[in-house]
Amino acid sequence: MFEEIEKYAQENFIPIIRPLSRQLLCEQVKNLNPKKILEIGTAIGFSGLLLLKSSKAFLTTIEKDQHRAEIAKNNFKKYGVEDRVKLICDDAMNVLKSFANNNEKFDFVFLDGPKGQYYRYLPMLAKILNKDGVVFADDVFLHGLVKSNLPIPHKSRSMVNNMRKYLLLLEKSNCFDSKVLDVEDGIAISRKIDEL
Ligand SMILES: C[S@@+](CC[C@H](N)C(=O)[O-])C[C@H]1O[C@@H](n2cnc3c(N)ncnc32)[C@H](O)[C@@H]1O
Repeated sequence: MFEEIEKYAQENFIPIIRPLSRQLLCEQVKNLNPKKILEIGTAIGFSGLLLLKSSKAFLTTIEKDQHRAEIAKNNFKKYGVEDRVKLICDDAMNVLKSFANNNEKFDFVFLDGPKGQYYRYLPMLAKILNKDGVVFADDVFLHGLVKSNLPIPHKSRSMVNNMRKYLLLLEKSNCFDSKVLDVEDGIAISRKIDEL
């Protein structure tokens, strides 16, 4: 599905969700039937299109990179779903803060933005999710580095430590019930069971 977008992503070194993870994402969304989905990390709209195709939801999607956001916008138009998407070109943290302040709510979050920021987003996500809402976080193993006992290369160290913090926060959380799946680069699925 959406092969031409996948091909463009490959040719232009734009990371998009991997095959087994996308299957799982689509299954989750089909089963949960969310009304409002938030995606952090639009890239060129590939996963956004999958989310829309798998549901009847309205999608809000955030992308910091203006060029990618433009391409995503065109892709949403091309597939006739532009009426079901709001694309926000901004830093995800700014947007999350404003959603939390304005009491904006979502039923499902696909977390696929900057990997070192997941743990900072979590309290905000807890605020903006409805009860039983789900966070589907991709790439939580960071190419195996998160689970490795070996020294982490300097350039990845803070990102890896931050991702470990994310997983630890989930493990200790009374707000989320989580499972971490050993699928491709690791997926954490967290359901909101209580307020913070
Ligand atoms: C892994 S890609 C998203 C792939 C997309 N979800 C898909 O599967 O088709 C991550 C995206 O997050 C964007 N990003 C990075 N930092 C961000 C930030 N602080 N706020 C919003 N977007 C950000 C990047 O520009 C990149 O396009």
